[in-house]
Amino acid sequence: MTKPIRKAVLPVAGLGTRVLPGAKTTPKNLLNVFDRPILSYVVAEARAAGIEHLVFITGRGQHAIEDYFDHHFELEAQLEAKGKSEILADLKAELGRPGEMSFVRQMQPLGLGHAVWCARELIGDEPFAVILPDMLMQANPPALAQGVAAYEKVGGNIVLVEPAPEGEAHKYGIVALGEREGRLARMTGMVEKPAPGTEPSNLFISGRYILQPEIFELLGAHETGAGGEIQLTDAMVKLMATQSFHALEYDGTTYDCGDKIGLLRANVAFALARPDLGQAAREAIEALLRANPPR
Ligand code: UTP
Repeated sequence: MTKPIRKAVLPVAGLGTRVLPGAKTTPKNLLNVFDRPILSYVVAEARAAGIEHLVFITGRGQHAIEDYFDHHFELEAQLEAKGKSEILADLKAELGRPGEMSFVRQMQPLGLGHAVWCARELIGDEPFAVILPDMLMQANPPALAQGVAAYEKVGGNIVLVEPAPEGEAHKYGIVALGEREGRLARMTGMVEKPAPGTEPSNLFISGRYILQPEIFELLGAHETGAGGEIQLTDAMVKLMATQSFHALEYDGTTYDCGDKIGLLRANVAFALARPDLGQAAREAIEALLRANPPR
């Protein structure tokens, strides 16, 4: 019997330099994908996987994240008074549930590994999920739910992976694999941004993890790796010496919203997928493409 995955860590304290100036005063993960912030999709994904508690690791100037999931009384009163009940219902569906969210300040952006370590007291001694919110996933069932299902089968640690675009594996964290059964394979290693031609596979770590709590002890050593940052992958490689790791090639597509073109692709993809506005979005995009032929 595996212990259930009840908690998720969402590190959002990065500076978002690749999506400036948009991310200057709006935290990167509150940038819109179509009509709602990136975090709205990610929280829905976590809930669909059975997550009961979300631990956000925030940085300075990110109060807006906490506010987004809270009531906005003036706005709600105005919508109520004007009879705009649909918009009001949409707004209320975004609210956090009582006691569902915690916010921990990472006082310096020392790296993803350090951000995750900041959640140790709130996670305690149980396995947990890590969600990198800027990696937005379109998947059915939702990506983390696929990860939890794999965990319920094999236990240990799970990393969701996806094939990197042709010739781009060297830009990502890449996994090395042992024996494979369907979409699930035993992991034998992991390497951050391998030199072109040395990639152990074409599968990149796409931003959803299920980890055992022993990772905190390893992260607590505060060893720096690539880019002088405390890397989560370095601690995972160490944990691999004593615990099992599986890579799940999940069924879906990842959009890197921490990158300008990735964010644009996410906007288009999520707009097209909307049952209510997808057709209107398609017509608008096609009209724009006709009006702007390749130069
Ligand atoms: P990224 O490197 O993609 O985010 O980190 P970033 O630092 O915001 O990006 P750029 O390069 O400046 O544009 C992956 C995830 O880890 C979080 C980020 O917020 C992002 O969700 N992170 C990273 C932290 O929470 N703290 C850190 O110290 C570093």
